[in-house]
Amino acid sequence: MENLIKKAANAILTAENVAALTGAGISVESGIPPFRGKGGVWERIDPMEYAHIDALTQDPVKVWKVLIKEMAALVGIAQPNDAHKGLAQLERQGRLKTVITQNVDGLHQKAGNTDVIEFHGTFAWLRCMQCDKRCETGAIDLSVIPPRCECGGIYRPDCIFFGEMIPPRDLRRSSQVSSECDLMLVIGTSATVQPAALMPLTAKSSGAVIIEINPEPTPLTEQASDIFLQGKAGDMMNRIGKFLKLEV
Ligand code: OAD
Repeated sequence: MENLIKKAANAILTAENVAALTGAGISVESGIPPFRGKGGVWERIDPMEYAHIDALTQDPVKVWKVLIKEMAALVGIAQPNDAHKGLAQLERQGRLKTVITQNVDGLHQKAGNTDVIEFHGTFAWLRCMQCDKRCETGAIDLSVIPPRCECGGIYRPDCIFFGEMIPPRDLRRSSQVSSECDLMLVIGTSATVQPAALMPLTAKSSGAVIIEINPEPTPLTEQASDIFLQGKAGDMMNRIGKFLKLEV
């Protein structure tokens, strides 16, 4: 493993334009469960019943009571872990430019990354389903479910539900970042949800080196990863960081 870590660190040191794609796994060490796999949210909650846009429009109270309330409680208290901090340090060193994240928890920004594409939206903001007014989640009393806008409409999180489109601007920029980077760090994603999972393939076909960090192999591991670091995000970033002199 130490050789692979060293190889990954050297690749980062020689790269000129590093990007990262992250998924739920990077926030596991911050106490937020992943969606798939052991202990995953979709083991307990049927995504089609609670995370599809049709479920939200037909019965927002039901979706709030089960899925959103749980997410709000977790996201409200979670703090960045060593993997988020490592990526922020890489940006401060001038190595990492953009983080494309599928996460809605805001932890990359909390850690200090300044160019974060929130591919699936954010939980930090709510949007009225009736008048479209946006409002910071922290400013809303979530002990009253569902939270309502002053117009009487119900607030929804400003994130993407299944069956909804990725905002074209985010998709365009992510594809551009992926095709322009010369190294992509892919951390904590099962690489099963499209179109996010296409980004490392876009990067690879444009000549980038792909470094994947995950305790389990994914479809990407065989297909695209040049260096697969099998392990937890925080631990692996710390070990890479020793070579890069990152101070998390
Ligand atoms: P998943 O829950 O599908 O995958 C999480 C990945 O993290 C798995 O591959 C795990 O092996 C890995 N993992 C677990 N613990 C880890 C750790 N400590 N360090 C690193 N990796 C770890 O999450 P995503 O790939 O992000 O979409 O899922 C993509 C999308 O599916 C989500 O954005 C969400 C979900 O449905 C929407 O909400 C639209």
